[in-house]
Amino acid sequence: MRTTVILPVRGCRAVRRAVRRPFGSRGRGVTAPTRCRGSSVARRGDAATRRARAVARELAETGTYRQTPAELLLGARIAWRNNPQCVGKFYWKGLEVRDCRDVGVTLSQKGDESALFEALVDHLRLSWNGGRVRLLLSVFAPSVPDRPGPRVWNGQLIRYAGYRRHDGSVLGDPATVELTEAVQRLGWRGRGTEYDVLPLVIQWPGHEPRFFDLPADAVPEVRITHPEYPWFESLGLRWHAFPTISDQVLELGGLRYPLAPFSAWYTCTEIGARNLSDSNRYDKLPEVARGMGLETGRDRTLWRDRALLELTTAVLHSYDQAGVSIIDHHFATKQFVRHEERERKSGRTCPADWSAIVPATSGSTTPVWQRRYEPTRALPNFAPQPTLWSSDML
Ligand code: ARG
Repeated sequence: MRTTVILPVRGCRAVRRAVRRPFGSRGRGVTAPTRCRGSSVARRGDAATRRARAVARELAETGTYRQTPAELLLGARIAWRNNPQCVGKFYWKGLEVRDCRDVGVTLSQKGDESALFEALVDHLRLSWNGGRVRLLLSVFAPSVPDRPGPRVWNGQLIRYAGYRRHDGSVLGDPATVELTEAVQRLGWRGRGTEYDVLPLVIQWPGHEPRFFDLPADAVPEVRITHPEYPWFESLGLRWHAFPTISDQVLELGGLRYPLAPFSAWYTCTEIGARNLSDSNRYDKLPEVARGMGLETGRDRTLWRDRALLELTTAVLHSYDQAGVSIIDHHFATKQFVRHEERERKSGRTCPADWSAIVPATSGSTTPVWQRRYEPTRALPNFAPQPTLWSSDML
């Protein structure tokens, strides 16, 4: 299998270094005499023109073109920077890109799903990095004329199943009920626990999907305990160590990469104040509040608010104890404002969606609350794409 990590970066210090100097020490010659700088700008201009001509030729001959590793790396970073949904963009220059464009591509129209599965498992292992989660994007084959690129059905590479019971209630994650049912129609049977990891469903459009169970070592999880409440552990809460968005298409330089899974670390509120607490997700606030001895009969006791805070505290504490990267919403939003500032100094605006940037709890205590954002759409970018598994497509 041919995959290349274009920019090998390990650990936090290395990421910080990469953020400061994404392209090594090259290009730092700001003190170079004007004459040299002028000629190097001209040389770069020549190179760009040559490249544009080569791309135009390739397009005319084949209807598509192959991006260079450098184009892929910089383009993916800018796609992240352009995305209005992400509070973590401060680190955009630290994104690593794995070139998986040739993985699973066979001479016949039908690609090799097992090879894709292996590369996706590698992606998870590389991102996990022993708990020091890496910012990692793996880019698989683009859609080219007559051959759309591969897809996975899953919204994230690691997600828990949601089983609808006869009485309408859900065991597991209600957010994945439809996907779970679609995967069951393919023949998958889960164990039937609250935290069954869904298999990956891999599909080359126009061909049958195949599902693969993830090996346990590619699915690191954290059990949730509380720093002060020993009873908390008995709630049996857990979550996977980091998210890997896998259903967005990377739109870059006129090409579409429909499979480009992106891993990063969590912000504690995503788990504590959404996944485990939303009433249409795991809905754990009533249990937490009962453990805390709160009066849950009346909204005015603010039992939800108090339980939400303790659940989020527990998430942060547990990830820290387990040595898994996670950030809190105060730090995340401060970094976001620094990012905005840096973008302004670079003469750019910062596309952002206020409702995605403001954390789910304590919004008004963070510096983003009073700011206004424009969710301007710029390319390159990541974009949602229609699910392959909705009933009308099966
Ligand atoms: N909110 C999603 C989840 O809870 C993950 C979205 C991406 N988050 C991130 N920190 N990169 O799973």
